[in-house]
Amino acid sequence: MIADRLKAAPVVPLVQADDVEVAVKTALALQAGGLHVIEVVLRTEAALDCLEAIAQRVPDAIVGAGTVLSAEQAAEARGRGAQFIVSPGLDEGVVEFCQSNGLEVFPGTVTASEVQRAWNLGLRTVKFFPAELSGGVPMLKALSSVFGQMNFMPTGGVSSGNLKDYLAVPSVVACGGSWLTPQHEIDAGDYEAVTALAYDAVRHAGEVRG
Ligand code: 3PG
Repeated sequence: MIADRLKAAPVVPLVQADDVEVAVKTALALQAGGLHVIEVVLRTEAALDCLEAIAQRVPDAIVGAGTVLSAEQAAEARGRGAQFIVSPGLDEGVVEFCQSNGLEVFPGTVTASEVQRAWNLGLRTVKFFPAELSGGVPMLKALSSVFGQMNFMPTGGVSSGNLKDYLAVPSVVACGGSWLTPQHEIDAGDYEAVTALAYDAVRHAGEVRG
């Protein structure tokens, strides 16, 4: 279950890769650091191949597709093994496809109107994106005070420097981001650095959440 995994380690690293082997190595490195819920963003030609390879070759991973812009993309990602779908914005077509196919979906929201639309689509967890540029922790607290039972997944500008501040907000189920998979470390083949970043995030999360 995604929720159980996120309770243990409330951090979702982003994987953006052009190469299947790199994607698998990155996922294994993240897993070695304690992160098992992985979002492959559909921003490269090879993204769906990378997603499928992680789903097949990284046994303990829960892999989802990010940057999903349409119901068609959500369907394709599902066919390749995606267990959840993340979108930058709120699109009814994507949400409805996921709901009718038993896929968890986390659409991006920023404003009260968007959160309210998501609520009325039956969602109880949404992405808060781009978190830092949209008011960060104070904005999240303001939204949480109104939408009592809505949970949030902030992404966009989350880093090791502010992770604990976000996780200290009770409505935050997890934080997502690319800070765990720095391109320069991956290009250099330094997967130990990726594991160290994942381990660090898990440790910081433990300090806040116990
Ligand atoms: C996303 O797709 O959620 C964002 O690109 C994450 O933003 P970040 O790169 O600042 O972590």
